[in-house]
Amino acid sequence: MKIGITETILRDANQSLVATRMPLDSFEPILNRMDKAGYYSIECWGGAVFDSCLRYLNEDPWERLKIIRKHMPNSKLQMLLRGQSLLGYRHYSDDVVRKFIFNSVEKGIDIIRIFDALNDIKNIEVAVEETLRCGAEPSCAISYTVSPVHDIDGYLSLAKSMESIGASSICIKDMSGILTPDIAFELISRLKSTVKLPIVLHSHCTTGMAYMSYLKAIEAGVDVIDTAVSSFSGGTSQPATEVMIKVIQDHHNECHVNTQVVKEINEHFSKVKKDFIDSGILDTRVLECIPTTLIDQIPGGMYSNLISQMKNEDILDRFDEVLEEIPQVRKDLGFPPLVTPISQMVGTQSIMNVLTGKRYQTVIKETHNYFLGEYGRPPGKVNEELMIRLVGQKEFANKRLSKEMEPQYKLTKEKYADKNYGRSDLLSLILFPELTREFIKKRDSDNLYLGIYKVKKVEQVESVKKYKKIDVEDKLKAVLIAIMSNYLDKPVSNIDLDEIYVMR
Ligand code: CO
Repeated sequence: MKIGITETILRDANQSLVATRMPLDSFEPILNRMDKAGYYSIECWGGAVFDSCLRYLNEDPWERLKIIRKHMPNSKLQMLLRGQSLLGYRHYSDDVVRKFIFNSVEKGIDIIRIFDALNDIKNIEVAVEETLRCGAEPSCAISYTVSPVHDIDGYLSLAKSMESIGASSICIKDMSGILTPDIAFELISRLKSTVKLPIVLHSHCTTGMAYMSYLKAIEAGVDVIDTAVSSFSGGTSQPATEVMIKVIQDHHNECHVNTQVVKEINEHFSKVKKDFIDSGILDTRVLECIPTTLIDQIPGGMYSNLISQMKNEDILDRFDEVLEEIPQVRKDLGFPPLVTPISQMVGTQSIMNVLTGKRYQTVIKETHNYFLGEYGRPPGKVNEELMIRLVGQKEFANKRLSKEMEPQYKLTKEKYADKNYGRSDLLSLILFPELTREFIKKRDSDNLYLGIYKVKKVEQVESVKKYKKIDVEDKLKAVLIAIMSNYLDKPVSNIDLDEIYVMR
């Protein structure tokens, strides 16, 4: 049987090991080669990429996607989407969900892996429908967790519902790396006989379990596994691509990934990794095996987030108390899987509970909204007393609240009518209003005045792309090239400043 490999270096490995801080420049030169590797798909966008581009990297996330697509015409590009929360931290109205998916597919996405933090099928329906309508593949992901209210039968019936709404494949998304080898075997075997779709396994090495679970998954007939090239594998990231290719072949399965190309890809990222270690962004602690995760289930990303949040507040000495509080808060919320955006909520609420010394004396807005049902229906029973205290009722309404939201895309378009923003900018503004306004301001100030010309968006002219991060003289060069290219109606690749006279 043929087993496919989804390479996660550009998204999940990047997110898990270096907090999604890889700028486009660091991997753009290797994209052409990656396109030749023969991966089943390349996960390159979504998750925290969008947020990180705007917040830390001064990059337009949509532009990044377009460039990746340009360099990889033959590969299936994959993104991770948080259902009705898209790439943000709350639910958005249906028109925003649809526009966002349309724009993502138009800019180059082939496969959208869609999950909901509560495994509430209502929260992924619109995204799945729109993905199909746009001609892309909706791969539906089960947020895997272990709790008194979760069992294999529950996951099987969830997979069935996913199949019925049009999923192209079913992914087991084990964000904390807590799926044990034997459960992996049982879950995948039973999924294979329950649905007619390809089964994908996504796990993390956090607890040291993932390699063994992948092996058992292969024995159970898994169709695709998620891996990362070895330099960015292990720890809170995925198992190594090179190792898994060998294991697949040893098991007499086919794997059509070119090991020579993977070697080159890995050599490139080894250098990138060294830079991250030198700058301190890659904290080698994330490469350790953390078996306590088997109990607290804290995913790698949440771990590093908690630490930095508590460092900022200068309360890191109370970290252990917070770790003990997390399972309690999770129980009060009806055992939601710890995945974005719920993991952030549980983390922050736990910090509050510890700091105030009294549980729920301070309740954060997100927890309040959770009890209002804004994130959907929790998997188990919530703390009734708390729910009554917060929202005055003990039952969740059996409806999807985002369905009743005002159409935010339309409203945002009207709000910025005088600015003439395109679809991508408007979507960024809806998801991250402040970050995007800052980003656009910076982008506009980079547009140069030259004589009577106001040259806009220099960086978007194809031939001057390589001058993106440049000094003043190069910038002037870039502007001139842009003008010349425009004037001559053909690309001009280089220019000698000494030969140029500018008429004012
Ligand atoms: Co992951």
